[in-house]
Amino acid sequence: MLRNQRVVVCLLLAAGCAADPADEVATDSAEATTGEGTTGAAQSTGEPAESSSGDVTADVSYYEDIRPLLTQHCVACHTEGSIAPFRLDSYEDVAALAPAIKTVVEARTMPPFGVRADGSCQEYDDPWWMTEDEIATIAAWVDGGMAAGDDTIEAPEPPALPTLEGDTELVGIPEYAPETNEELGFALDDYRCFPIPFDIESDRYLTGFDVIPDNDELVHHVLGFRVDPTFLNNAEAISVLEGIDEKPGWPCYGAAGDGILPQGVPVTWAPGQGAVNYPEGVGVRFEPGDIMVVQMHYNLLDEGGLDASEIRLKWEDEVEKEGFQVLWDPFLFQSFTGGSQTLPPGMESAKYNWDATFEEMFSFDGISFPQIDLLGIIPHMHERGRKMSVEIERAEGMECAADVDRYDYNWQRTYFYEAPIQVSAEDRLHVECDFNTEGVSDPVGAGFGTQDEMCLVGLFFTE
Ligand code: HEC
Repeated sequence: MLRNQRVVVCLLLAAGCAADPADEVATDSAEATTGEGTTGAAQSTGEPAESSSGDVTADVSYYEDIRPLLTQHCVACHTEGSIAPFRLDSYEDVAALAPAIKTVVEARTMPPFGVRADGSCQEYDDPWWMTEDEIATIAAWVDGGMAAGDDTIEAPEPPALPTLEGDTELVGIPEYAPETNEELGFALDDYRCFPIPFDIESDRYLTGFDVIPDNDELVHHVLGFRVDPTFLNNAEAISVLEGIDEKPGWPCYGAAGDGILPQGVPVTWAPGQGAVNYPEGVGVRFEPGDIMVVQMHYNLLDEGGLDASEIRLKWEDEVEKEGFQVLWDPFLFQSFTGGSQTLPPGMESAKYNWDATFEEMFSFDGISFPQIDLLGIIPHMHERGRKMSVEIERAEGMECAADVDRYDYNWQRTYFYEAPIQVSAEDRLHVECDFNTEGVSDPVGAGFGTQDEMCLVGLFFTE
């Protein structure tokens, strides 16, 4: 049934669904799946069916009840000239899409927030998470015939987005005309990386950032990797990539570009989120020589055009606590050393598990702490990723660190915890990635391309 609803949404919004690479796999294999483990079914596990909201009646109207909810949770993106493919800021638009709206809020695929934030696994800073009551209100309105109500009620103010305070540096992304590239598997999108050098003589710390998209209809996500060109083969990889074509930057997908091993991803931005300020007193160090490789995800759903976005970076000379980032993925790492691990093809659910102590992960970057504060987490897979579970094994038992139950590559961000999780070096991280490989007939290997996979966790922490 959910599968069908999903298909209905796709029919209603053919473009919107096709834009999501994850859906292509699921859709191709719709006939072969039984529901269990497919995108649609997985998203709804334990969700709205059970929600029993006594106070939600059929007496729900657009102007009184629905507009305030959509203004708070949806309209930042679903408005004129923004990234989302249609607007949700008038009764007519919303009523026309009502069944699709009900489906996505019940499945919790919109608003896009990849980790479960219902309190069952950690609390997050500013989660985009609707309450069961809010979802039930929308469902009741749709099922009850979508009453308009009193249109003289004043429109609610949209929520204010976080901003950056103080001095910032504005860096420009070169003007670029994104294009699709079937060969690289970019059917509706372009992923392009641009190197940003910094002319600094001593260390400085990034404490926050914002992205100012130039062409809002194109810019989907923005990732800024810290790259030390002297690390392993980075310099060589960069020079190969720079010569790949005549255009600025180079194509990339999984990270900063083929063969580049980044030292962290301090900038993770998606439309509608506003500026990010790291937790008080925390900054990520950039040394002289470090560059930022910015991955721009351009969505070409509507039409092409030019983009020259800017990134605002907030720097401090000194911080109370250095923020560290570790990007860890044994699936990817084994592929560098001639390993032969792959995911079996044709599986609704192909799992990859890894575990590592924090000590092991830190020592790779030459750091050693008996104890750390985990501030945030970045779950990262590619288009076949469906779910990821991250747990911390301690002497006292297991603790959930992130529960990703409806992974969507389109939405990359750092999920900051409301309060840091304290872990010791001997504690062990257990990660399980769950992929759907039904769309392919060859084993899926690890790597940086659209057809490769990753089972990567980014950790943001301080001593
Ligand atoms: C952060 C920006 C953002 C927010 C917030 C957001 N959307 Fe979306 N929405 C998008 C984008 C972009 C797409 C196109 C598909 C994609 O890129 O994931 C989309 C797609 C959709 C679709 C098409 C089906 C699909 O999954 O592709 C529906 C329906 C939808 N959104 C409804 C909503 C509703 C309802 C809300 C609020 C409860 C909401 N959205 C909040 C950005 C957003």
